[in-house]
Amino acid sequence: MKELRGALIGCGFFAVNQLHGWKDVPGVAIVSLCDRNPERLKLVGEQFGITARYNDAREMLAAERPDFVDIATTVESHRALVELAASLRIPVICQKPFARTLGDAKAMVEACGQAQVPLMVHENFRWQSPILKVKRAIDEGLIGKPFWGRVSFRSAYDVFSGQPYLAEGERFIVEDLGIHALDVARFLLGDAQDVSARIARVNPKIKGEDVATALLNHGNDVASVVDCSYATLLETEPFPETLIEIDGSEGTIRLNRGYELVVTSRKGTRREDVSPALLPWASRPWHNIQESVLLIQRHWADCLRAGREPDTSGRDNLQTLALVEAVYASARTGGTVSVPGLLR
Ligand SMILES: NC(=O)c1ccc[n+]([C@@H]2O[C@H](COP(=O)([O-])OP(=O)(O)OC[C@H]3O[C@@H](n4cnc5c(N)ncnc54)[C@H](O)[C@@H]3O)[C@@H](O)[C@H]2O)c1
Repeated sequence: MKELRGALIGCGFFAVNQLHGWKDVPGVAIVSLCDRNPERLKLVGEQFGITARYNDAREMLAAERPDFVDIATTVESHRALVELAASLRIPVICQKPFARTLGDAKAMVEACGQAQVPLMVHENFRWQSPILKVKRAIDEGLIGKPFWGRVSFRSAYDVFSGQPYLAEGERFIVEDLGIHALDVARFLLGDAQDVSARIARVNPKIKGEDVATALLNHGNDVASVVDCSYATLLETEPFPETLIEIDGSEGTIRLNRGYELVVTSRKGTRREDVSPALLPWASRPWHNIQESVLLIQRHWADCLRAGREPDTSGRDNLQTLALVEAVYASARTGGTVSVPGLLR
């Protein structure tokens, strides 16, 4: 197996998980790093023993000519960096949120498509092993045809200390966290045709909304509720668990607190502990997300080798971003907003 040489741009808070994850993907090595912040570049370079370090992405990609580039910067730099990779014909992974606008996202997909460059969005929530097990339970057919679902993320965890920029944007929870939950709803129940949503800000210290509730019409008499909050103080803090409910014509699936999967059908109830692995480099409560980083990066390496489009490709992510935009539009107007079918 030929080794895949990767380069990573953006050595911030979350990139450390990605670098740990890459070490666990067979046949992949991250050979160079880039960050505009010299302190982060040095710190992360030393932590992972990577000596090829750059403060300019173009310079790094031109000099190193990696087999792929992993963009772990925040959203405002994504379009320029993805288009740079496309112009150099370097396969590219881009962190979520892929773009602030659907227009930017379409331009990136177009640029990579024209250059025939593989493009994956690091949309990792659907790669969480408990969520993969919910999908598997649906596909088994035991609960019949799903007709209702709920994807719920409610917490009072202080995400602002690790990611201070989250307190500063006009938009917060839908763009940052709801985007994952909306993607999971798509993954489990299919694309939504229209959305009705409400958002609110409870925490007065932040600029954007920290509560959102959306009703998704998936068509075919299937509906779901996607709700998220960073203003929900519970007896024990569930961060970062996504709770899932699926009702089907022949039974139900529940992904409960503490990673308990309960599948009930006419044959009875099956209860399973679907706790994610605690990888050697992971730490609670992030281990669930950290495991999903490894799984999505393994998927990327498999797809790149096989010449296959990743499940969470840039093209696929357009539909998730269309949902995000529809949620904000519905919250603004108070009405139901149709979601363009970009993949149909
Ligand atoms: N998928 C997940 O579960 C998950 C979790 C947390 C964060 N994220 C996402 O990861 C991304 C990064 O978040 P973070 O919290 O690590 O941010 P961060 O601000 O800690 O890190 C970003 C780094 O990128 C560098 N940078 C920015 N633009 C650059 C450029 N053009 N060239 C070189 N370096 C550049 C910055 O100097 C900084 O060190 C965000 O989009 C965030 O939404 C995803």
